[in-house]
Amino acid sequence: MRDFFAWMNETPWSIALRESFVVWPVLEATHVLTIMLFVGTIIMVDLRLLGLAFRQVPVSEMTARILPWTIGGFVIMMVTGLLLFYAKPLVYYHNIFFRVKIIVLLLAMANILYFHKRVQGNLAAWDLSQSIPRNARIAAAVSLSAWIAIVISGRMIAYDWYNCEKLEPESALSWMIDCPQRDNLLAVQMPAPLLAGEAD
Ligand code: HEM
Repeated sequence: MRDFFAWMNETPWSIALRESFVVWPVLEATHVLTIMLFVGTIIMVDLRLLGLAFRQVPVSEMTARILPWTIGGFVIMMVTGLLLFYAKPLVYYHNIFFRVKIIVLLLAMANILYFHKRVQGNLAAWDLSQSIPRNARIAAAVSLSAWIAIVISGRMIAYDWYNCEKLEPESALSWMIDCPQRDNLLAVQMPAPLLAGEAD
């Protein structure tokens, strides 16, 4: 994986993006500003499902009106996020906060799938009701926690406290983010025959 991102890091467009004076800041600003649209609209629906806001508005009406904005925001977040990643793939590959963010992002997506496939199916039965089914409230609570965690871990990406050059090569974190400094460590630990590939 590291070799693939090392190759990607040297592609002309990746170099052009990270050295650009205008495009990269515009991408980053768009990524940050679109959080208001994307995460903001998700939080509105989650608060409705938790019975904490918009209790008089039918859930179906809220999702019908808000979902197109959420989807639009999601597309912009994904495109700008992937381009930001493409600009400095090795930096983010070795960034623990970026890894946490992507893992929680996959969890949040699985939760959306679960909601649409398993919870929303019988919406007609509880659409106008004040008492929201337990699995809908759980899905909303998971969603709210996941998106807050994604925004926090996204913000932490910029902090270099746990970058490879600051970690002990033998540390667990250095192993988790596949630090290149560990290669030397492994070379030292490997018995000479294995290194030379002579082992029978
Ligand atoms: C879809 C939901 C997403 C949310 C809510 C989100 C949120 C954030 C936040 C809050 C930041 C910090 C911005 C700052 O303060 O500097 C950030 C940065 C970043 N995001 Fe996302 N993001 C999302 C998706 C993605 C995806 C899919 C990728 C790429 C695979 C991505 C790649 C990045 C990168 C590379 C940065 C760091 C930019 C820097 O160096 O400062 N994001 N994101």
